[in-house]
Amino acid sequence: MSEALARAAALLRDARHATAFTGAGVSVESGIPPFRGPGGLWSRVDPAFIEIGHFLDQPEESWRRIKDIFYDHFGQAKPNAAHFGLAALEAAGRLRAVITQNIDDLHQQAGSRDVIEFHGNSRWLLCLECGRREAVRPERLATLPPRCRCGGLLKPDFVFFGEGIPEKALQRSYQEASQADLFLVIGSSGEVQPACQIPLLARNRGARIIEINPHPSNFTPAADVFLQGKATQAVSELVKELGLRN
Ligand code: APR
Repeated sequence: MSEALARAAALLRDARHATAFTGAGVSVESGIPPFRGPGGLWSRVDPAFIEIGHFLDQPEESWRRIKDIFYDHFGQAKPNAAHFGLAALEAAGRLRAVITQNIDDLHQQAGSRDVIEFHGNSRWLLCLECGRREAVRPERLATLPPRCRCGGLLKPDFVFFGEGIPEKALQRSYQEASQADLFLVIGSSGEVQPACQIPLLARNRGARIIEINPHPSNFTPAADVFLQGKATQAVSELVKELGLRN
């Protein structure tokens, strides 16, 4: 076992309050590409289609891209060993919550119970007129843009560029940053504010950081332990080291 893995396992074992912070990299091995770095979605697709002003101005054109990328392609993704490993750590009382930047619902599908969705969740549609939320069903996306029964425009319930972070998720995340003595940062480039400040706020208070990523990120300089590798392998090894099963 690597010395870094042994140190990470010891930090996790001794933590009073450990919180996970995940980005797109935790879902890469479920078939969802990252946004940045090698093979990143934003290197192939202009993200303007999920900028809120563009969406309101061109709802049909924006919805066609949204449906193609986030529902037709990524919608079939299943949780991987990293998602299941975090759920096992929570079930064993080793992890209090997962703060995720991802909108793919895979942490919940893997069994994590306390998931703080910093950027919302693509499984819901929100009416911009009456505020009603409904679960996405394939037939609701047969006609674009989808409309609420009140006639209002429906928007996926995830955060578009130019929108604010859901208040409850923001508060819960700041609460975790103020209480955790360990952050397990997995698969994030640390490029997007305000999400990426959460683990660093905890670090500034004296919390330790374990980072899992195949490549260095903006978090790496602040990490006490950098497990350089893929999420499925590193999380599975940590779970095993703690004598748990994925
Ligand atoms: N395991 C772990 N990490 C991985 C893997 C893997 N198998 N493959 C890639 N990564 C890492 C990359 O090295 C990169 O550091 O995942 C990270 C993905 O970074 P981003 O694509 O920038 O994703 P994220 O940090 O979550 O982006 C934040 O940006 O576009 C917005 O709203 C979007 O939530 C997203 C936010």
